[in-house]
Amino acid sequence: MPSLDWSSKSSHIPIQSSLELDSVIYPNGQGYDTAHRTGFPPDQLILGDNLAVMSALLQEYEGRIDLIYADPPFFTNRRYKARIGRGEDSRKPEQWKLAEGYPDHWSDIEAYLDMLYPRLNLMYRLLSPSGTLYLHLDWHANSYARLLMDEIFGADRLLNEIIWVYHGPSPIRSAFNRKHDSILSYTKSKEYTFNVDDVRQPYDPKTIKTFASSSKAGFGKVPNLERGKVPEDWWYFPVVARLHNERTGYPTQKPEALMERIILASSNEGDIVADFFCGSGTTPAVAAKLGRTYIATDASWRAVHTTRARLIRYNSPPFRMLHEGRTPYPLTHFPTNARPYPFQLSKESIKLSNQAIDSLDYWEVDPAWNEKIFLSSAQALLPLKKGSIPLELDLPVRSDQKTICARSVNLQGEQTQFLLASD
Ligand SMILES: C[S@@+](CC[C@H](N)C(=O)[O-])C[C@H]1O[C@@H](n2cnc3c(N)ncnc32)[C@H](O)[C@@H]1O
Repeated sequence: MPSLDWSSKSSHIPIQSSLELDSVIYPNGQGYDTAHRTGFPPDQLILGDNLAVMSALLQEYEGRIDLIYADPPFFTNRRYKARIGRGEDSRKPEQWKLAEGYPDHWSDIEAYLDMLYPRLNLMYRLLSPSGTLYLHLDWHANSYARLLMDEIFGADRLLNEIIWVYHGPSPIRSAFNRKHDSILSYTKSKEYTFNVDDVRQPYDPKTIKTFASSSKAGFGKVPNLERGKVPEDWWYFPVVARLHNERTGYPTQKPEALMERIILASSNEGDIVADFFCGSGTTPAVAAKLGRTYIATDASWRAVHTTRARLIRYNSPPFRMLHEGRTPYPLTHFPTNARPYPFQLSKESIKLSNQAIDSLDYWEVDPAWNEKIFLSSAQALLPLKKGSIPLELDLPVRSDQKTICARSVNLQGEQTQFLLASD
């Protein structure tokens, strides 16, 4: 079988790496009371280069992940910006505050494939025997990726080439507007999960009308009109720029409806779903909503912070936050006895002064700080659309023997930790 070769091609993996636990988030306090009995939750959000992260996960997860969705950089040779603050009006770019998003910049296609190939190999190893990998790309690199996937999985394991179509403005005047992405799905074996009844769609009213007038319309077959049809391999979903309730400001965010179809079709409740290029966290957010366990990773702190906020907003089950050894967890320790904002402490809550309101994107509190792992019992987020960040958080345990620790993230994404004592 023909294969794709280039001079630096190498699948020298896994590499030496390790993961360190930084914190456990109990979104809106859920699960915090019973935490000491239940141990650490299985859901995880990991900061780090996914080559190292996946290498570290092999020991525990080789052959265990049921579904992997991969949405890597597309080889566009762009540097994407993130909008900070909140999802400002798309029609008024002059008002956006921008920060670094993520780079999709490569010296050449070989450099790009040097990134992609070993990572696809690791994903293959992590997949369970009934697992599926969805690889989301577009015209820039999908033909190369298809050959790599054929090599790693076997050409006969291609399940679908899904075309996601969308529309929107484009500056192109010398070609047709490029308004589709390609999602290649490959299964690890012939015994794979595919829940067809969970993704059926209603028939088009015109089809229903045709069948009502002539039962022969379907070449002799009468479809079960009530049950709905199996979706085609081309999908229309609007892009996130048009979905005001989903927009996080993180670049190239994918729609939740797209992820929902993938997760419903190719995993079951309780299965492990992973996304090692998680960006704004669409996959873990939808996986949590659908009762799947998730592992999400990104090399960018802004992505991990955006994902954390999104998981809290969606009331995900408790989750762990880790980082891979090479990528330090970004945290500045405020000097003991000093605090970035004045605050008031009572038995039940902690309240920051109004001075904090203009700069804060996020803050959280650990009411019984053990000086090792931050157990976040309450969190406050800048609302996505209107309103200001809450300045008061409840304290579920308040004993004078315990140290209260708080962490805040400002609009620039800088994370700070400070200790609070009763003044
Ligand atoms: C196309 S975006 C993913 C968007 C995501 N699907 C969403 O809905 O928001 C690609 C992401 O991959 C991350 N990334 C790129 N190279 C990476 C690497 N080697 N390890 C981990 N993450 C990486 C980038 O930081 C970026 O957030």
